[in-house]
Amino acid sequence: MHDGSGRIVVQNLSKQFGAVNAVQNLSFTVEPGSVTGFLGPNGAGKTTTLRMLLGLVTPTSGMATINGRPHSQLGNPARVVGSVLENEGFHPGRTARNHLRVYAAAIGVPDRRADEVLGLVGLGSAADRKAGGFSLGMRQRLALATALLGDPQVLVLDEPTNGLDPEGILWLRNFLRSYAREQRRTVLVSSHLLNEVEQLIDQVVIISQGVTRYYGPLEQLRKSQQSRVLVQPADPSALVKALQENGITGVSPTPDGRVAVAGSTVQQIGDIAAKAGIAVYGMQEDHADLERMFFQLTQAQYTGAPGYPPPQQPQYQGPPPGYPPQQYPPSGPQHQQQHWGGPQQ
Ligand SMILES: Nc1ncnc2c1ncn2[C@@H]1O[C@H](COP(=O)(O)OP(=O)(O)O)[C@@H](O)[C@H]1O
Ligand SMILES: [Mg+2]
Repeated sequence: MHDGSGRIVVQNLSKQFGAVNAVQNLSFTVEPGSVTGFLGPNGAGKTTTLRMLLGLVTPTSGMATINGRPHSQLGNPARVVGSVLENEGFHPGRTARNHLRVYAAAIGVPDRRADEVLGLVGLGSAADRKAGGFSLGMRQRLALATALLGDPQVLVLDEPTNGLDPEGILWLRNFLRSYAREQRRTVLVSSHLLNEVEQLIDQVVIISQGVTRYYGPLEQLRKSQQSRVLVQPADPSALVKALQENGITGVSPTPDGRVAVAGSTVQQIGDIAAKAGIAVYGMQEDHADLERMFFQLTQAQYTGAPGYPPPQQPQYQGPPPGYPPQQYPPSGPQHQQQHWGGPQQ
């Protein structure tokens, strides 16, 4: 039997479909009591990973366990893990309540549980309506209700914000947060859009091309955001030299002829430029937001040949132009450095 921990462990998990390395040596752990975002662009390998976790796809190598066991050895899996995967259909002619009753019977929970879960997801008033007439947002809620039938310890949701309006996303956020935190459940949520789940998640696993790019608390990723100043000088190399002579280290020229300066203020830069007699035509403060970091961490997938198809060995690619390398990846006691990776050449 399983150990009841509520922990999800993915360990050196890989899946190849013919020549496609859908998932490559992926490792992460999800603990109960928090919501973990599993993020990456389309085609990154999220659904394949979740399907391996749920016993629907056989890994090429590595392991995915829930409560210390592969899905096939969970005993009564619907009591342990509830899931919503992409493109799950409903019988269009069946009412929401009847759909849930069919599933309730299949996993051995009483009929009345159908009405309980409809209430939980805010579909109580639609219980007698046919699922075929539901909006995409209502279908997402009905799929979530189905996943909740067994009152599972672990919830795995693949792109649950797809089709939800802002009000639906807010509702989902409150629901999942209280499910995870107040009831000490484990929640793993995938998405290809960071901003749709940012408010919802505590921990994040970012992948692209089947490889982990970042794994750690979202807060850590946020803290690593560092602002920089973009300076437009008459003579970029003279400004770089002057700044460095004045002890400013985070200086790098940008491809468009400007100079990016991290860890310094507009005033400091202006004073140094004036003293060195270098004309400055403009300065702009620039903040690295999470969205951009997400893009930087995953963009290798879009670079095309020769970076595509996915290379074999992970290697961190480096920060965006103008950001000091030591800031990427963020480091700290909680951050697990060994999980950083990037495209390999
Ligand atoms: N059954 C399959 N047969 C062949 N290739 C597949 C199959 N399932 C997924 N893939 C490929 O694996 C890669 C990862 O897909 P997927 O896990 O669906 O990514 P995501 O969910 O992150 O969008 C993609 O290149 C996809 O085309
Ligand atoms: Mg997917």
